[in-house]
Amino acid sequence: METSSSTFITTIGMILGLTIAIIIAIVQPADARAFFVFGDSLVDSGNNNYLATTARADSPPYGIDYPTHRATGRFSNGLNIPDLISQSIGSESTLPYLSPQLTGQRLLVGANFASAGIGILNDTGIQFLNIIRMYRQLEYFQEYQRRVGALIGSEGAKRLVNQALVLITVGGNDFVNNYYLVPYSARSRQYSLPDYVKYLISEYRKLLQNLYKLGARRVLVTGTGPLGCVPAELAMRGTNGGCSAELQRAASLYNPQLVQMIKELNSKIGRDVFIAANTERMHNDFVNNPQAFGFTTSKIACCGQGPYNGIGLCTQVSNLCPNRDQHAFWDPFHPSEKANRIIVQQIMSGSPDYMSPMNLSAIMALDNWSTP
Ligand SMILES: *[C@@H]1O[C@H](CO)[C@@H](O)[C@H](O)[C@H]1NC(C)=O
Ligand SMILES: *[C@@H]1O[C@H](CO)[C@@H](O)[C@H](O)[C@H]1NC(C)=O
Ligand SMILES: *[C@@H]1O[C@H](CO)[C@@H](O)[C@H](O)[C@H]1NC(C)=O
Repeated sequence: METSSSTFITTIGMILGLTIAIIIAIVQPADARAFFVFGDSLVDSGNNNYLATTARADSPPYGIDYPTHRATGRFSNGLNIPDLISQSIGSESTLPYLSPQLTGQRLLVGANFASAGIGILNDTGIQFLNIIRMYRQLEYFQEYQRRVGALIGSEGAKRLVNQALVLITVGGNDFVNNYYLVPYSARSRQYSLPDYVKYLISEYRKLLQNLYKLGARRVLVTGTGPLGCVPAELAMRGTNGGCSAELQRAASLYNPQLVQMIKELNSKIGRDVFIAANTERMHNDFVNNPQAFGFTTSKIACCGQGPYNGIGLCTQVSNLCPNRDQHAFWDPFHPSEKANRIIVQQIMSGSPDYMSPMNLSAIMALDNWSTP
């Protein structure tokens, strides 16, 4: 009786111990890092599906090359940049924050707060109505932390956020869907282009400081691509088949000032929290020499209509190319999955000309991430 009860207790103890070990292993796998995504359509993985907005990618042919071959809300024929970063760091894709599936243990993988159409400024993308502007994405990040705190305790939640990787991609819409949206836009009457860029950078700085306050410690910050060379701008503003000079000027003013601001923030904090990804240069490589990357064109979107397939939206009645890997651009504004892969390769292992002060592989080594 006594032996059997002590055996029983030992067994219970072992089961309990094992259960606790398993729970700890699930909650805090030694090398798992959460991943958080903020920004616009370049990184939205489907939040806008849940909103009353015209900025959406939840019907075909979006997603035609996605594993499920379904439209998911990603502005891509297949995977987007966050998916490919998740793959590279050895984790599953983060769910959109508004997804009802983002509950329980799935929260620990991270979350994607991005929303197509938004910009640094609140008045960017007003034509898209109900979208998640940057300040709101940050509020959701706080709410997320409370939810994770309820799951693993507030210390655990804090550690999870401190150790996480963060990606923020925003700014392009402040030009194309604000300053240059219509001739004589309110912002273009208020500011000269150089002054507008300064204003954007100062507002962006506040957003990055808020991310830091909310616990982010490794943040990839992308610049804008060559805004004037996307199929939409080639079609609407291009000169003789060339890029729009005005939008190229905007990108060339904005990107170096962003890098400078990031440097200043890091030296103020005393740590390389923010990492600048030179997406203008990454894009320029294949925009200037598409054949070297296996593209037949970097000018004509795969999906769209009109010159360069650059007019209007990509829908079921648009022209659609048979081989998406041959196009640098999937739709009038967004890169194809193939182009996204080239960008993420540079994020992972690019030289300091592409990633400053260092690439993601170097960060993972510094922070003792497991190599997937
Ligand atoms: C954007 O709107 C929010 C909420 O109204 C406000 O707190 C924030 O200061 C605004 N940001 C800018 C740059 O005006
Ligand atoms: C990644 O960055 C590190 C640090 O700057 C550098 O040593 C390494 O060579 C880079 N990777 C590649 C493939 O250039
Ligand atoms: C990584 O590991 C090294 C050696 O064990 C240690 O000195 C360093 O503090 C660790 N870095 C971090 C960010 O944990």
